Amino acid sequence: MTTDRAAVLAGLGAWVPPRTVTNDDLSQQFDTSDEWIRSRTGIATRHFVDPGMATSDLAVEAGARALKSAGGPAPDALVLATTTPDRPCPGTAPDVAERLGLGHIPAFDVSAVCTGFLYALATAAGLIAAGLAERVLVIGAESFSTILNPEDRTTSVIFGDGAGAVVLRAGRPEEPGALKAFDLGSDGTGVDLITVRAGGSQQRSTGLPAALEDTFFSMQGQQVFMQAVLRMSASSRTVLDQVGWSVEELDALVGHQANLRILHAVADKLKFPREKAVVNVDKVANTAGASIPLALADAAADGTLRPGQKVLLTAFGGGLTWGSVALEWPELDLA
Ligand code: COA
Repeated sequence: MTTDRAAVLAGLGAWVPPRTVTNDDLSQQFDTSDEWIRSRTGIATRHFVDPGMATSDLAVEAGARALKSAGGPAPDALVLATTTPDRPCPGTAPDVAERLGLGHIPAFDVSAVCTGFLYALATAAGLIAAGLAERVLVIGAESFSTILNPEDRTTSVIFGDGAGAVVLRAGRPEEPGALKAFDLGSDGTGVDLITVRAGGSQQRSTGLPAALEDTFFSMQGQQVFMQAVLRMSASSRTVLDQVGWSVEELDALVGHQANLRILHAVADKLKFPREKAVVNVDKVANTAGASIPLALADAAADGTLRPGQKVLLTAFGGGLTWGSVALEWPELDLA
């Protein structure tokens, strides 16, 4: 941050929908196996929304938990990271703010796929640095199961639904929990690597009905894998340089939970011990914009993240987009 006002992590909460889906469950539906999914991705289970449940429902649950964790005054802004909004228009955030009883605060969505939460954090930190907000509720919420192609076994086994949220408050850069440095980037030449082709102005402007497969999520897995490793490791290094931490000083690496092999490859590139990379992809799969706060909530709850630790968050997603942020882990009351 360039001012002496910083955004400080003050609350954390998460929620996943109750329905657990195992690899064996998916093997009933697709030509796949527990062995294939575990060995290629590290995923064992994930949660899916039931019919009738939407992203806003997940966001409200996680948001309420983060607010309880933070205590104190109500937030004066809400930023929601999601690529699976309740509808294309309007954004999902105002409805979430209303349902959380937050009144008429500014509330808007940020769309950067799996990097969405870190973009939303940066946006919230910017609102605080500019004096436009004192406390911001930042939520990452996704129901990717609703956009998966039932004909595509590759994408259908790697995603899950869930939500995580944090409260950022205005504070000082030297406080524990202050977001110390950001790196954000994009590369639009990779727009087609991760996409839902239909549903936007580009497809509608043809006047032709959308092909069914274009209404679903599609991905070029191997290229995405390579880009994810390159971008997350380079972005992590940039933030470590900015904040002046060596890799050896770093206590925890919280990467976007896309695939255990990606998390290990990023750790290897950084020469960071694999066992200090936070992992919950085994339990929740890739929850896109919800991935980082869900991983933080799990790691804080099980004691992996402890006050005073030097923590680096890094993510990569469609767009292409990527980002990283560094902070010293604060004391938090977990809801
Ligand atoms: N079950 C069984 N076999 C499967 C399968 C499944 N669910 N999905 C694909 N396969 C098969 C393929 O058909 C292929 O078979 P073939 O060799 O006979 O042609 C084989 O497995 C290898 O496919 P490939 O796509 O090369 O697999 P992979 O090792 O690249 O793993 C991903 C696929 C998706 C797990 C991997 O590419 C990946 O993790 N990519 C990044 C995804 C990601 O993280 N996206 C979000 C980033 S924000």
